Amino acid sequence: VADLELRFRTRPAASRVHIRRAALGRLGMLVRRAATARRAALITDATVGRLHGGAALRALRRAGIAADRIVAPAGERAKTPARLTALWDALARLEIGRDDMVVALGGGSVGDLAGFAAATWLRGVAWVCVPTSLLAQVDSSIGGKTAVDLAAGKNLVGAFHQPALVVIDPDLLATLPARERRQGLAEVVKTGMAADARLFAYAERRAAALAGGDIEALAGAVERSVRAKARVVLADEREREGGGRSALNYGHTLGHALEAVHGYRGLRHGDAVAIGMRAASLLSVRLAGLSPGARARQEALLDGFGLPRSIENVALRALLSAMRHDKKRRSSQVRWVLTPRIGHASVPRPIERRALEAALIEVGARR
Ligand SMILES: NC(=O)c1ccc[n+]([C@@H]2O[C@H](COP(=O)([O-])OP(=O)(O)OC[C@H]3O[C@@H](n4cnc5c(N)ncnc54)[C@H](O)[C@@H]3O)[C@@H](O)[C@H]2O)c1
Ligand SMILES: [Zn+2]
Repeated sequence: VADLELRFRTRPAASRVHIRRAALGRLGMLVRRAATARRAALITDATVGRLHGGAALRALRRAGIAADRIVAPAGERAKTPARLTALWDALARLEIGRDDMVVALGGGSVGDLAGFAAATWLRGVAWVCVPTSLLAQVDSSIGGKTAVDLAAGKNLVGAFHQPALVVIDPDLLATLPARERRQGLAEVVKTGMAADARLFAYAERRAAALAGGDIEALAGAVERSVRAKARVVLADEREREGGGRSALNYGHTLGHALEAVHGYRGLRHGDAVAIGMRAASLLSVRLAGLSPGARARQEALLDGFGLPRSIENVALRALLSAMRHDKKRRSSQVRWVLTPRIGHASVPRPIERRALEAALIEVGARR
């Protein structure tokens, strides 16, 4: 059980994060405590809505909050401008006003889409985030980033909009497929490597239970990851260039390039980031003083979670080009977050071409 209060300098001034098993049943009560709204649009996806939508609606209504459901398709394909327009139309039909709120029930896709709808509807209404995937519980629900994708790339249109409340119920992970659980475990390894050695050690200690979906073990990883991410986010709310939040991009330089090369289909985000961490740790040993033993611990943990070991059938040249064309990159140089030790990340730095190519080939890029 954890009850955190995240105090921001930017508006809205605070988010509560409530982590507790069976918290979904208390959703309405938690919302009443954190927000003034008494009407809500519950935005979910088809899969999560079928599994947990009824329980969420009942919990809201039991606490006297009038709630209607809006359903988006499951997965990344919901994060489009077309879907956002449909959501705005649905909010208009429900006559959601400035004092009402949006409740997002789902994984990171629903969170990003519904959060952006809340950020833009009537120039911004309050929202409550109820993350249901492991990735969303450990990563995307904290930090206030919301976005949709364009054909030109992922997350190109979005806003920072902190939820008033995040309700995390680890019991919801019981219905999550193992493949999806693995995506979240990759981000747990990332946060451990980049920002929290104790989280990393916890993941090692409970590796088998985490891989097998033990809810108690997952709840421990969620709470530790949320605390670590909250600490990093509070020190760098808007992700300044080279700010502390960039540590959380460990493994993501190559990860994003791999996702782009696969057209954001087929290769999942956590799987791509795992390969990215394998390359980043090689570079960290060679250029940042990470001990080979520490790198071996990372590799063993990724293996234990069933995360992929190498790039399948992608040319080195395609990867280098995808890295150079990452739309979110601010400077002309490709930068990598390295980890001199477990739990510590360096500011993103440019990597000399020969070292970079050698590392990419070692993780499987085709010459
Ligand atoms: N805002 C941020 O800071 C941030 C950070 C990381 C990732 N993201 C975004 O998050 C998205 C990925 O999130 P995701 O991996 O959660 O994907 P997702 O939301 O697409 O969910 C993956 C799949 O799991 C299903 N699912 C979710 N919860 C379930 C449950 N409890 N039981 C059964 N099935 C369930 C969903 O229906 C979906 O099919 C990406 O779009 C990424 O860009 C955002
Ligand atoms: Zn990520």
